[in-house]
Amino acid sequence: MTTQTGTTQAGTTDTATTAVETTHGTGPDAADGAQAHELLALDDVKVHFPIKRGVLLDRTVGHVYAVDGVSLRVNRGETYGLVGESGCGKTTLGRALLRLTKPTGGRITFDGTDLSSLKGEPLRRMRRRMQMVFQDPLSSLDPRQSVESLLVEGMRAHGLDTGAESTRDKLKELLASVGLPGTALRKYPHEFSGGQRQRIGIARALALRPDLIVADEPVSALDVSVQAQVLNLLEELQAEFGLTYVVIAHDLAVVRHISDRIGVMYLGALVEEADADTLYARPMHPYTKALLSAVPVPDPTVEDSREQILLSGDLPSPSDPPSGCRFHTRCPWRQETLCDTERPELREVGDGQRVACHYAEDILAGRLSPASGAVSVPPEVGGDGVAGDGAESAAS
Ligand SMILES: Nc1ncnc2c1ncn2[C@@H]1O[C@H](COP(=O)(O)OP(=O)(O)O)[C@@H](O)[C@H]1O
Ligand code: SF4
Ligand SMILES: [Mg+2]
Repeated sequence: MTTQTGTTQAGTTDTATTAVETTHGTGPDAADGAQAHELLALDDVKVHFPIKRGVLLDRTVGHVYAVDGVSLRVNRGETYGLVGESGCGKTTLGRALLRLTKPTGGRITFDGTDLSSLKGEPLRRMRRRMQMVFQDPLSSLDPRQSVESLLVEGMRAHGLDTGAESTRDKLKELLASVGLPGTALRKYPHEFSGGQRQRIGIARALALRPDLIVADEPVSALDVSVQAQVLNLLEELQAEFGLTYVVIAHDLAVVRHISDRIGVMYLGALVEEADADTLYARPMHPYTKALLSAVPVPDPTVEDSREQILLSGDLPSPSDPPSGCRFHTRCPWRQETLCDTERPELREVGDGQRVACHYAEDILAGRLSPASGAVSVPPEVGGDGVAGDGAESAAS
């Protein structure tokens, strides 16, 4: 995300920059070559939670494959949107990449350092540079602490608290940059609205001058009317402080405008990744197509002709994922027997788009028809693109 949005938060001042300016020369201009642009690299990251049984919970009877082989790259200054339905492993992946959860396997590299090589003080110092903004600001902010004490806490832990007066000035600048008045410092979380509390959560992350912010469903708990304001604020802060974001959401509408690139997760793995415009214009994985078909389109003529894809069945349990393609139990384009037996790799299909589907090209070209009744296309738009040609697919 590199564009500035129009709205300016009340009280934003130029001096706010000095309060939370990054300590690293990390702008894209400072770097040369792909490696130098890359802030975060995940290679085959896995997080498996053991399922324990027995009186002493001493027997492992299985595993929840919450994250099961995710590889991706996030460049400096970029916003990576991570999308998928509830339970697909987004939060677990977010926590693993900040090392709040230890991965079972794979490698996470942050600014050139393999995080698994760090322990103790070096790990703690590295953690300052990666902060999380949580879904529910009320439960993530201790109700007994004033805003000042909430903000100072982390700064103190990392030696950024430079004395009462100068710290208070910094905090006021910080609050101004998230659109809150300095008087908020003396108040408590319950005295604010949901949107304001999320601004406090964002200020708390910013207070540590991070390079990377993982925002886990940052607007899911907020009224729709407030969601856009908080997303705009995140965009403004990114431009102001040179931040890199991973923004997690369960719905593609939320990440559409904020993301440069989007990864779609299903049952612990990425099924598709592309830059945001490509993903919306040309989704190739059946699961992405289904997610997109559930996003309402503001234009009524487009909305009336929108292809609707209905997925059968529920999300399978991540403790017993389907064989072969994990999506085969719900996929309208499933083909015997390859889909049931062989797990498709996430592979490049051009334009930086990656898809984990054996038949992505055939589906895109309309050479394969979806199962009867799975896709409804209004008669006047049939034949255009992926789903319209087959007689079966016109069933509604
Ligand atoms: N600490 C844990 N122990 C066992 N299972 C967990 C734990 N945390 C998450 N899970 C399971 O891992 C799966 C992925 O969860 P989560 O990462 O929270 O998904 P999402 O954020 O996409 O909704 C879910 O089935 C969830 O129940
Ligand atoms: S590999 Fe098969 S089951 Fe999986 S998404 Fe592609 S067509 Fe559907
Ligand atoms: Mg979650």
